[in-house]
Amino acid sequence: MEQSFSLPDGLTKAQQYKQFLRDYALFIDGETDLIAALSNTSAALREAFGFFWVGFYLVKDADWLSLGPFQGSVACARIRRGRGVCGTAWAEARTQLVPDVDLFPGHIACSSLSRSEIVVPLLDPTTAVRGVLDIDSDRLAAFDEEDRRGLEQVVQLLCKQIFPE
Ligand code: SME
Repeated sequence: MEQSFSLPDGLTKAQQYKQFLRDYALFIDGETDLIAALSNTSAALREAFGFFWVGFYLVKDADWLSLGPFQGSVACARIRRGRGVCGTAWAEARTQLVPDVDLFPGHIACSSLSRSEIVVPLLDPTTAVRGVLDIDSDRLAAFDEEDRRGLEQVVQLLCKQIFPE
């Protein structure tokens, strides 16, 4: 198997997500193993978009997220429900778009270089949150509505595979 997710230069962000989603939908189709799917999804996103940190936290019990597969430097292993950007995305079951992490109350700094962040919850068919996709940038306001739309679609394709009906 040889699969590249690198994107050509000169695409708009909308075009980048369009191409990524087309390739990713074929790639992830049929992958039902949780660790394999999360590992390859973080690698694919990193390769395509060059994100500073991209990875998953998974719901382990009623109160805690545990670090899952990721690409980037070592990160906090556990995050309490409702804490930080990830714990808030879990508690509110909706995407958190944070242009400046220093202005987000309770932001958990795993890296002092992280400046902005987007976190998308992973929902199962009962709409329970089973984890989150967390992406950090070393630039302020790196993420916008285009990223929210694109990444929510990525997560939707992923969740259809790993949390089947
Ligand atoms: N900043 C996150 C913690 C995870 S790291 O960014 C990888 C948060 O506030 O939840």
